[in-house]
Order: sequence, then structure tokens, then C-alpha cells
Amino acid sequence: MTTTAEPTTEPVTTRRPVLTVTDLTVVYETEQPFTAVRSASLQLHRGEILGLAGESGCGKTTLAYAVNRLHQPPARIASGSVVFHDREAGDIDLLGLKDEALRTFRWSQLSMVFQGAMNSLNPVRTIGYQLDDTLKAHVPPMTRAQRKERSAEVLTRVGVDPVRLRSYPHELSGGMRQRTMIAMAMLLQPQIMIMDEPTTALDVVVQREILREILRLRDELDFAVLFITHDLPLLLEIADRIAVMYRGEIVELETAQRLHAAAQHPYTRKLLGSFPSLTGERSDFVRSGRADEGFSA
Ligand SMILES: Nc1ncnc2c1ncn2[C@@H]1O[C@H](COP(=O)(O)OP(=O)(O)O)[C@@H](O)[C@H]1O
Ligand SMILES: [Mg+2]
Repeated sequence: MTTTAEPTTEPVTTRRPVLTVTDLTVVYETEQPFTAVRSASLQLHRGEILGLAGESGCGKTTLAYAVNRLHQPPARIASGSVVFHDREAGDIDLLGLKDEALRTFRWSQLSMVFQGAMNSLNPVRTIGYQLDDTLKAHVPPMTRAQRKERSAEVLTRVGVDPVRLRSYPHELSGGMRQRTMIAMAMLLQPQIMIMDEPTTALDVVVQREILREILRLRDELDFAVLFITHDLPLLLEIADRIAVMYRGEIVELETAQRLHAAAQHPYTRKLLGSFPSLTGERSDFVRSGRADEGFSA
């Protein structure tokens, strides 16, 4: 059936792109070389939440690390390109960037919330110290008072009371630690945030709260998010578009609505089919804040 009523333009994809990944291939040079990411292409637009879904082991984390060039041997980028479209400086080839420039670029323009990040805070330093340290390293002209003010502000934004600046990580709940990591990633107001399973380890209620927070912040601050998870139903609720990865390849890239309505790839259909609740209307409860009216699984 051809639908003429459907809008031909998508609000998000008509915005300017902020990141373009083209034909990216990443190989683990182990005894038996293994291609974990195969010719992956995607584009992230300003203010967009792009979901990257797929089962465990399909290459999501490998892709995220390579984009940011945080991959370590034996991982090697075999081919492809990653271009950041800077608001002021124009196009920047991330794979060609020198180490020093790359370090400056990370955090300030593209920050990452790692998988299991809530356990990666330094246990012997207070939250305040860790935020302060990042600001000191990246924004030397800031005074101590300005750094403190900024640290308190980002914590407040993610729903953590600034009195927690004096707390050590072990004094915070898992949810608060994860919020703190998101605050850390937002600290320098990057244009892109890559979040790798940012809420997977948390209970459902806290997960919903944090996701609502991310959506609200995105609306306020207009950064783009590459949101990685194995949880496709979650992405249907929060993402503008969704890329589905299967065995190292991006097999589908669609708006959340279209993916829900008419997934093309058999693997996507299988993923969708395995969640009975998705046969109903697409739930918008995260966007609307009605967390108590979620899927009845
Ligand atoms: N250091 C490594 N050496 C060799 N293979 C790896 C390494 N890290 C990950 N892999 C392989 O790459 C594939 C993709 O892993 P990963 O990117 O972590 O997947 P995902 O994040 O989707 O769960 C997996 O099959 C994994 O076994
Ligand atoms: Mg992973």
C-alpha cells in the first residue's frame, strides 16, 4: 500500500548532521581475525536521539569505541570514515585527528557514558573532586569558584543534590552514580553524547527516571545522543530513529515509528516479535512522563 498521507520529511533528519559514519569496519586482529563491525554507516543529527540496538556481541560497543577512537588493540579500524560536523570549525575527520587534538575533542565535543560506567568513578575521590578535575584539565581559565558552580549545576541538572559533591561514590546509590556519570559526560556541554547501555544495570523505575531526564536535557541543551542498548522496546519509546545491528552490520535504520510499524529485516521483526506488548500502540510514556503506564509485559 502506498501512503500519501504520511509526511515525507522527518523533523530530525532535516536538521543538520553532527556526525557521519561511513562504511566503518573494525577488525579484532586476534589469531583468527574477527570483523566485529562491518561497513557500518549512520548519521546523527543535531538534537537527535539515535538508538543503536542489537543482541549482545553484535558489535555495538566496538562501533562506539571506534567512533571515538577509544578502541584498543587488538581492535583496528580497517576502513571507513568518521566525520564530525562542528558548528563553528566545519568538518573534522576524526580518524585523521592527531592524539592531542583528539584528547581535546573528546569530552568537550563528544563524550561517552561507558557500559558499566557507574562503577568507573574513582572510589577514593569525592564526586566534587572528580568533576573539578575534569574541568581543570579542559577549561584551565575557570576559577575554582566557577568550577564549583558548574559542578553543582550539572549535578542538579541530572537530579542529584549538589550536597553530593562532598560524597564518595560508595555513598551513592547505583542510580545516583549513573546520573553522576551522565553529569560528567555533560560537564563540558558536548555536541554529542554516546551512551552505551547507560541504564541497563538499574532497576526499571530508576531507568525510566534517568531516560526522562536525558530527553529533557536533550530538549533544553540540544545535544545529539547515540543511545546503545540491547533493549529495542526501550528505544521505540525514546529514540527518534533506530539502527539495528546484527552480527556486525547495521541491517536497518529507520524512524522509531516506521520500525515499529514495518520492520524490514527478519532479525528486527524477530526482535519486535519477541515482545508481545509491541503489538499495541507505541507507548510514549517516557516522553510524556507517565512512567506508571508502561508496557504491561
Ligand atoms: N578484545 C577483543 N578481542 C577479540 N574480540 C573481541 C574483543 N572485544 C570484543 N570482541 C568481539 O567483538 C564482538 C562485538 O563485541 P561488542 O562490540 O562488545 O558487542 P556488543 O556491545 O554489541 O555486545 C563480539 O563477538 C566480541 O566477542
Ligand atoms: Mg556492549
